[in-house]
Amino acid sequence: MFTLSLKALLTLAPFITFSSGAILEYRKNHGSGGSTSGSNGTCTSIPQFLSCENTTEITDTCCTPTPGGLVIQTQFWDTYTGMEKSGQLLPKNNWTIHGLWPDNCDGSFESYCDFERQFDERPSPSTVNGQTVPRYSGPKVDTFITAAGRDDLLAFMKKYWVSQGSSDASFWAHEYSKHGTCFSTFDTKCYSSDTQHEDLIDFFETVTKAWLKYPTYEWLAAADIVPSNSTTYKLSDMQDALKSKTGALPYLGCHNKVLSEVWYYSHSLGPVQNLDFHAVDTTTKTTCPESGIHYYERSSASEA
Ligand SMILES: *[C@@H]1O[C@H](CO)[C@@H](O)[C@H](O)[C@H]1NC(C)=O
Ligand SMILES: *[C@@H]1O[C@H](CO)[C@@H](O)[C@H](O)[C@H]1NC(C)=O
Ligand SMILES: *[C@@H]1O[C@H](CO)[C@@H](O)[C@H](O)[C@H]1NC(C)=O
Ligand SMILES: *[C@@H]1O[C@H](CO)[C@@H](O)[C@H](O)[C@H]1NC(C)=O
Repeated sequence: MFTLSLKALLTLAPFITFSSGAILEYRKNHGSGGSTSGSNGTCTSIPQFLSCENTTEITDTCCTPTPGGLVIQTQFWDTYTGMEKSGQLLPKNNWTIHGLWPDNCDGSFESYCDFERQFDERPSPSTVNGQTVPRYSGPKVDTFITAAGRDDLLAFMKKYWVSQGSSDASFWAHEYSKHGTCFSTFDTKCYSSDTQHEDLIDFFETVTKAWLKYPTYEWLAAADIVPSNSTTYKLSDMQDALKSKTGALPYLGCHNKVLSEVWYYSHSLGPVQNLDFHAVDTTTKTTCPESGIHYYERSSASEA
């Protein structure tokens, strides 16, 4: 029995290590990228400073996001997906992932920074810097995740990174191509091996781990702010509840008094992959009114 399982383990070993190969390779070259701390690479041997707060020129852009050092973790509160029939449901008691965006330190931002890594079927905007962003029509990005042996990551993304009105994979492709490719720390040059889509997998994993740092549902609930179809809430109560957890003011987004988004702003110590975020106030003014904000319950048919 023991021999058998050991043999099975040895047979599986190459696949097991393959799954974290991208991150290990990254870490070897650029510090402790990925989720687990450990080895010390080149990023830890250079002076450490926060993105947007450097006092000298940043030379290794794999080690600090630049431009785009204002890192924003964005989330949605949707009450339906419009894709319920195909099993696309929202996770109970949880906000969902929108993305992880690199803004310039002044709040402006770049989009679609690498046409070689353009997997968005409907680029929006359709042009950047006077150039038309090519439309993508190849295999969906979820197939890249499966091919990399990361079904664990794919399952997590399906549960918490849920799209409204389009397939999840199209949404993820949009987020990666529009925003992810603009993070200098995810540039292909920061990855040494020839593994396909290594930076894309690492980006998706980093986004999910960044989202876990901001449990909006729990934070609001701790201040007795829970979804309700009979009560409304004050903006300052919501802002205070979140600010008391992060130390900085996030952006709250509303459509016609209905709460639908939150954006958490930060500066990054080292590569974004290290998830060492220092909260800063939003550079975007809230679109919510002072009071009478609806934080709606979802219909039960829209929740998993
Ligand atoms: C990484 O480098 C720092 C600073 O030199 C050191 O304190 C730390 O112990 C090192 N970590 C590992 C895992 O070697
Ligand atoms: C920070 O680094 C960027 C990128 O190298 C550079 O453009 C900028 O001037 C630096 N800021 C300061 C204050 O040196
Ligand atoms: C939301 O999902 C995350 C990831 O599974 C979990 O850690 C967290 O507890 C969930 N939040 C609530 C309120 O259940
Ligand atoms: C709460 O209201 C929203 C918005 O009108 C609606 O979509 C949702 O189904 C309602 N949920 C419940 C549980 O009544």
